[in-house]
Amino acid sequence: MNSPRIAFVGAGNMATSLIGGLLAQGVPASHIRASDPGVEQRSRLNAEHGIELFADNPAAIAEADVVVLAVKPQVMKAVCLDLARHLKGHELVVSIAAGISCASLANWLRAERPTAPAIVRCMPNTPALLRQGVSGLFATPEVSAAQRQLAEQLLGAVGLALWLDEEQQIDAVTALSGSGPAYFFLLIEAMTQAGTQLGLDAQTAARLAQHTALGAARMAAESQVEAGELRRRVTSPNGTTEAAIRCFQAGGFSELVQQAMQAAQQRSAELAAQLGD
Ligand SMILES: NC(=O)c1ccc[n+]([C@@H]2O[C@H](COP(=O)([O-])OP(=O)(O)OC[C@H]3O[C@@H](n4cnc5c(N)ncnc54)[C@H](OP(=O)(O)O)[C@@H]3O)[C@@H](O)[C@H]2O)c1
Repeated sequence: MNSPRIAFVGAGNMATSLIGGLLAQGVPASHIRASDPGVEQRSRLNAEHGIELFADNPAAIAEADVVVLAVKPQVMKAVCLDLARHLKGHELVVSIAAGISCASLANWLRAERPTAPAIVRCMPNTPALLRQGVSGLFATPEVSAAQRQLAEQLLGAVGLALWLDEEQQIDAVTALSGSGPAYFFLLIEAMTQAGTQLGLDAQTAARLAQHTALGAARMAAESQVEAGELRRRVTSPNGTTEAAIRCFQAGGFSELVQQAMQAAQQRSAELAAQLGD
């Protein structure tokens, strides 16, 4: 990264991961600042990463080129209204908050300025905490090509970053990768339970399920071949895998996944409507 100055507003789990990822990419600690109300959180981050921490949000963003809004959605409006008159206008604002639209952010951050701020809205997911995340990113028209690159590098520090053409797609990203880790946890949980019913001890069943998920995900992500074809290749006619897959299909597995994701997408849109204005 061409060493821009980055300020994090809210220094919780997600901000800490992003900061760790940026430092690992070679961004100097002197170019990263963060603000958080928690005294212990500030001392911990300062001790761990050597970045400057502030109790006051406007002080943290004073010289920033990129302002990362990493607070919970419920406090975002108050945080933005407080920051608005301290923004100079050239900054890229990156929001990782679930359910807060670019229009709401622009509205709260605009203050008396004639032009709207450059905003990138992202939906990361929990594995970002291990730098194994995947994020969907949407940029408003005010975001320059260089700022897009900055946002991509920022989220790229904790995993894969993929651009979206329309902001509405964030709800679909939320339903897929945002909530998705829990779907895989559910499958691991169910496979572990079924494994114990088949005679394995719980710990062995859990480790077999976890590492099968890990191995299968790596095969799917690293292969040029799509997941459906990988599945067909490991499903011999009349074999054990086919017996299980038939059972899944008879129970309407694909339709169930579709319904579950539609429910998540709808809930994401509902929450966004409640949080915005
Ligand atoms: N974690 C995920 O997997 C994930 C995935 C997708 C999106 N996100 C989004 O990422 C954002 C942050 O999530 P997180 O998991 O990192 O939450 P978090 O750990 O709770 O971090 C938020 C931090 O902001 C601090 N804060 C509260 N009020 C503040 C204020 N007025 N000014 C500055 N800082 C303030 C909190 O301090 P206190 O604890 O003292 O209140 C906390 O340290 C959320 O909007 C969430 O929707 C998270």
